[in-house]
Amino acid sequence: MNEIGSLVNQGLEQSIPGDWSIPSSLREAMHYSLLAGGKRIRPLLVIAAAESMGGSREAALPVACAVEMVHTYSLIHDDLPAMDNDDFRRGKPTNHKVFGEATAILAGDGLLTHAFYSITEASRKFHVPAEQTLAIVEELSVYAGPKGMVGGQAADMEGEQGITDLEQLKYIHIHKTGDLIVFSLKAGGRIASASQEQLRALETFGRSIGLAFQIQDDILDLIGNEQKLGKKTQSDVAMNKVTYPYFIGLDESKAEVDRLTKLAKEAVSGGVIPNPERLLQIAEFLLNRDH
Ligand code: IPE
Ligand code: IPE
Ligand code: MG
Ligand code: MG
Ligand code: MG
Repeated sequence: MNEIGSLVNQGLEQSIPGDWSIPSSLREAMHYSLLAGGKRIRPLLVIAAAESMGGSREAALPVACAVEMVHTYSLIHDDLPAMDNDDFRRGKPTNHKVFGEATAILAGDGLLTHAFYSITEASRKFHVPAEQTLAIVEELSVYAGPKGMVGGQAADMEGEQGITDLEQLKYIHIHKTGDLIVFSLKAGGRIASASQEQLRALETFGRSIGLAFQIQDDILDLIGNEQKLGKKTQSDVAMNKVTYPYFIGLDESKAEVDRLTKLAKEAVSGGVIPNPERLLQIAEFLLNRDH
């Protein structure tokens, strides 16, 4: 994780060309959140999925950086006063607290757009076949867009304690968080020219750890440590959010994370994925995460 984390950090530092003429406040705001830290789970999944099938780490890196850009944009916007109204993220004041709301919105817009530029680099510099690159671009727009993450965020904004049921909550979690995780695994697979069957196994793995990841996020919002998390806890209660612990309680939520992790592991263990060890380790790490 550390090794891939530093590789991703390097990739992200260099991702916006230094010779592009960009207003300095925008460049700074984009870099501020991108390089503020973060676990880099999604880039790790892109690379681990590619490597589980013999794909190259270098070729996966631009796509790994792209998904982290989309994720970081979603966090900047998620923290805005009009959304979750949070002041801390990745151990630092949120983007709008430092740069103001207008620049924070634009920094998010910039990161979202630049992610697609980064994906084309996989093809131009590392010769990922155009057909695979096209599929990756298509899937990023679907999984991150209105049918995916943005749809999940919209449903999250409409959701409220008392009016949202467990099915609707599942929709929110699957889309606002699960979809980008599923994208990461499939994109990694595509870089390694995965077969349809292998893509399905990666998707099933991603679906399960994706939902588990957001349930764990809900659990940590209640009982986690602010220092370790780098963000304020009790944000969901303050915002009247529906969460898994709200519906089924803490113990049941933990049991659900456990059950989903087992399902995920089964999906990649059956022999379809040539080297699933890293993916299995990541699932285990996420099960026990405290930040
Ligand atoms: C937080 O994601 C928001 C969710 C989708 C749950 P992460 O827990 O991956 O946040 P960082 O990237 O480590 O900051
Ligand atoms: C965020 O979910 C999901 C996205 C940003 C797409 P949360 O609102 O629960 O994430 P945190 O807890 O603020 O990190
Ligand atoms: Mg939110
Ligand atoms: Mg939030
Ligand atoms: Mg949360």
